[in-house]
Amino acid sequence: MILLTGATGSIGRHLVRRLAARGAEFRALVRDEAKGRALGCAYAVGDFDEPASLTAAFAGVDRLFLGGPGALPVDGEQPMVRQFTAAIEAAAAAGVERVVKVSVWHAAPDSLLAQGAHGVLDRRLADALPGWTLLQPSGFLQNLLLPGAFTPDGRLVGRYGDAPVSHLDTRDVAECAEVLLTGPPRPGESFVLTGPQALTDRELADRVARALHRPVGLLPLAPDETAAALTARGAPPAFAADLAALLREVAAGSLAGVTTAVPTLLGRPARTVDDFLADHLPALRTAVGHP
Ligand SMILES: NC(=O)c1ccc[n+]([C@@H]2O[C@H](COP(=O)([O-])OP(=O)(O)OC[C@H]3O[C@@H](n4cnc5c(N)ncnc54)[C@H](OP(=O)(O)O)[C@@H]3O)[C@@H](O)[C@H]2O)c1
Repeated sequence: MILLTGATGSIGRHLVRRLAARGAEFRALVRDEAKGRALGCAYAVGDFDEPASLTAAFAGVDRLFLGGPGALPVDGEQPMVRQFTAAIEAAAAAGVERVVKVSVWHAAPDSLLAQGAHGVLDRRLADALPGWTLLQPSGFLQNLLLPGAFTPDGRLVGRYGDAPVSHLDTRDVAECAEVLLTGPPRPGESFVLTGPQALTDRELADRVARALHRPVGLLPLAPDETAAALTARGAPPAFAADLAALLREVAAGSLAGVTTAVPTLLGRPARTVDDFLADHLPALRTAVGHP
């Protein structure tokens, strides 16, 4: 029995569809009963913030897809570490044999924000269970559909200067997880997942324009400008400073590389930016806005 956490998220939703289509025995962990019903698969209600709620969800589980919250720090605490630790402990208590965890590229315990939290958690997982495999993705193309990706007048908010980024489609992350959950186990391996090409913010805006057959401008923001905008909206200064430091690393090329992990795992090329845009035109039009 496979348990999926983060089943309603951008990776988990697609993984639910894939596992259902191949007739795999799985259940989804959801916080909200109604969301579980909407998934149309077996589900258990549980919350990483309430560790006792996880015990029943893990009953009979031998394989785990560990995905989900990328929560921001609150009052200096990184909730992700506490939340995923509860799931790792529940998995260890249930004797789970195989865990495929979504981490992030450049995860390291001494790094910042999600990279630091995943770095701590990846080690914690390795200490708790021998059957771990890590997916360490570059930035998600699905971030283009999130609030704030475009200005109200329809310009892409560019945060990476002139550096290319090898964005990838979360559907490919889900399919890599599917292979690692249902195929031969790959314990102790980490896969850095990227798209097939790296594009600058300007190139990405041009691709969006081409897909929508309309001009799409760019609002380039330096890391310190992003940080200042966040603190102006009430974000803690320490968080904004950490984010600016991470953005400087990306602007220096930390997400520019392209790996062969997706084609190697899936036996086909990774989805391109243009594939993603063509498959999400209505949502993209909403995200960019109607001038
Ligand atoms: N965004 C990027 O570019 C990027 C790049 C690399 C790695 N990552 C990592 O990818 C992960 C996010 O994956 P995603 O995009 O698929 O997720 P997502 O779309 O952000 O969805 C988050 C999922 O986590 C669930 N969740 C939230 N709080 C929870 C809790 N307390 N207990 C149990 N479940 C909870 C949500 O359930 P509800 O429906 O109940 O809210 C939802 O299913 C993060 O760990 C992030 O660090 C992100």
